[in-house]
Amino acid sequence: MTAKRAIITGVGRCLPDYILTNKELENYVETDDEWIRTRTGISERRILKDPKKGTSYLGEKAALEALEDADVQASEIDAIIVATVTPDYLFPATAALIQKRIGAKKAFGFDLSAACSGFLYALSTGGNMIESGRANKVLVIGADKMSSIVDFTDRTTCILFGDAGGAVVLEAGDEGGIIDYVHHTEGDEDCMLYQPAGGSLNPASEETVKNKMHFIRQDGKSVFKKATEGMADVSLEIMERNNLSADDVAWLVPHQANLRIIDATARRMGLDKEKVMINISHYGNTTAATIPLCLYDWKDKLNKGDNLVLSAFGGGLTWGAIYLKWTK
Ligand code: UT7
Repeated sequence: MTAKRAIITGVGRCLPDYILTNKELENYVETDDEWIRTRTGISERRILKDPKKGTSYLGEKAALEALEDADVQASEIDAIIVATVTPDYLFPATAALIQKRIGAKKAFGFDLSAACSGFLYALSTGGNMIESGRANKVLVIGADKMSSIVDFTDRTTCILFGDAGGAVVLEAGDEGGIIDYVHHTEGDEDCMLYQPAGGSLNPASEETVKNKMHFIRQDGKSVFKKATEGMADVSLEIMERNNLSADDVAWLVPHQANLRIIDATARRMGLDKEKVMINISHYGNTTAATIPLCLYDWKDKLNKGDNLVLSAFGGGLTWGAIYLKWTK
């Protein structure tokens, strides 16, 4: 008997309607469209304006579209993993809320916190469940309402992030799918990229709110340096482990944090620009959603047997890469 493979059979996404342009941001902070575009590659991002909707809404919509694309009923799903750093609540898990709403009655679900690498960690976790034979169908969701933790008076961060959800259905197959993954973590004791309050160390108080401690803080330069090295290194690592040359790779599916980081990764891998999925211009950094958003935008261009290298770097610090063979 050959081992089961975990293959992607459906992809979905949810993009909020509201488009926040660089021009509009000029009204809130001292910045300009030219600076943002040249330093980051971002022109606009989506914002979920409805205060009654949280990350679970983005994840739910993306999941429903992925299920439809896979022609799978919610009732067939065995497990739901939601990668997010902006859960609706600290508990219950966003995955539990989505499980109820979509009617995935037999599924268990949990949230996974690995910031921008979250979708890759979740995809490999779901893949392991399938390869072990414990699950047949797993929903893997990456969703973040980043606007809920962005300080729109801080020009160094508010220009970067957007809101979105992406999802894939993973099913057991005979060949292709997830072939290998490499993940790394290095505890960010220096607090290069974090949200200081809202957890057990600094629970919400008058003081934490006054000091804006519920918003993202980032040492952009340090993270940029680490991300550029980390994403390129891990992408090469997965290529070398699997004897993949640049010619063998059909697509790089990179986390979309900064166009310069993506370009550096592609250069180190020896890949032509035409082989790199880039949509940062329209969505900005949507944290756990960037990679499924790319898969969604490129799904009509993907061919059966294409070798994809998915690669990400983010808060934690976390970074990783997945080698998968497209089967759909
Ligand atoms: O996905 C999670 C991981 N996160 C990342 O990968 C993000 C990594 N970091 C970055 O992408 C970049 O560091 C940023 C885009 C955040 C910043 O770009 P940079 O090229 O590293 O700029 P910088 O921080 O070195 O700032 C250059 C200048 C500074 O002015 P001075 O000190 O040279 O006078 C900043 O104050 O640009 C200024 N600046 C801005 N100017 C206009 C910073 N933010 C802005 C802004 N508009 N929004």
